[in-house]
Amino acid sequence: MKILVTGGAGFIGSNFIRHLIENDPLCHIINLDQLTYAGNLDNLSGLDAHPRYQFVRGDIADRSLVDALAREVAVIVHFAAETHVDRSIVNPDAFIKTNVMGTYLLLEAAKKFNHSRFIHISTDEVYGSREKGYYEEGAPLSPSSPYSASKAASDLLALSYYKTYGLPVIVTRCSNNYGPYQFPEKLIPLAITHALEDKPVPIYGDGRYMRDWLYVVDHCEAIRQVLREGRPGEIYNIGGQGDKTNIDVIHLILEILKKPASLIQYVKDRPGHDRRYAIDPGKIAAELGWRPSHQFDVAIEHTVRWYQEHPAWWKRVKSGEYLEMYEKIYGVSP
Ligand code: NAD
Ligand code: TYD
Repeated sequence: MKILVTGGAGFIGSNFIRHLIENDPLCHIINLDQLTYAGNLDNLSGLDAHPRYQFVRGDIADRSLVDALAREVAVIVHFAAETHVDRSIVNPDAFIKTNVMGTYLLLEAAKKFNHSRFIHISTDEVYGSREKGYYEEGAPLSPSSPYSASKAASDLLALSYYKTYGLPVIVTRCSNNYGPYQFPEKLIPLAITHALEDKPVPIYGDGRYMRDWLYVVDHCEAIRQVLREGRPGEIYNIGGQGDKTNIDVIHLILEILKKPASLIQYVKDRPGHDRRYAIDPGKIAAELGWRPSHQFDVAIEHTVRWYQEHPAWWKRVKSGEYLEMYEKIYGVSP
């Protein structure tokens, strides 16, 4: 099977490409990635010359490029997106262009070349916040940030291509991922790398916000199963129902690193901050037999060690423009 993976130089996309190459000896992958600030070919080191892998630098909102690549494959697995809520608060433009327009052009290309699958990778954030209980796939969407609103728009567009044109689209909505190669602007890698440098670790608001953390390899395996056995037109929630407060996660990271809790710095709250994300993954468990196979306590320790052992990777990406963005919203250097 020849697959076009978009956004394969990012955090989850690069983990997915490695996972698929290792576990599916018949797959051939074309990775289309624009290499924005979040895309990094170091994430795929060792694969450059692999006979079943090819990299193309380009924009998913470039119609002629997307058409030329879609002609070569039967399946698209679509990760490419602007993904950071804080950035979407400061400047939503790229979120609309990539997440909405880019997804539209990929759907059009998949329709034109009669693709057999279009896996649209989405997020639990489209459901919005929930104080108690868990959202199932049929829940109404109530996104809070320009990021989650742009993802919700692309989810609905993707599903409309199934309903209107019969394109075999499947949407996955996953909870917060953590693991190697995550850009250190998201909570877990930011906290680890700041603690390693003995810098303050910023906690927004009261720190009691909750997220369900899933190890990235569990997400990749879920997508692999959806790709093989998922039903067209369906949505699958992917998560571990392991919600934790941000402050508990930070304390655990500091403990693993043997760093003092005095590094924690409470800062202003994020505008429109969602209190808790919570999804019910019962459908993917019942239909495909997928369940997470990594325990948080074990995988977070592995993740912390990975950043500890790869300072060159994160020191290179952790510079420049994102520092300004932080200061603009939170009034402190991250
Ligand atoms: P990321 O920010 O690490 O990577 C995004 C990748 O997309 C980068 O390589 C970037 O260069 C590429 N990209 C951005 N704009 C592009 C464009 N116009 N054309 C081509 N490539 C472009 O993101 P991630 O955390 O790996 O997330 C991947 C997908 O998974 C996203 O769709 C996101 O919404 C979804 N998701 C993420 C999480 C999470 O916790 N990180 C959870 C659920 C769902
Ligand atoms: P983040 O990793 O940005 O993911 P998302 O907002 O998409 O879930 O943030 C996770 C949680 O951590 C969220 O409640 C915001 C909070 N947070 C902090 O408290 N401090 C930080 O420096 C960051 C980046 C996030």
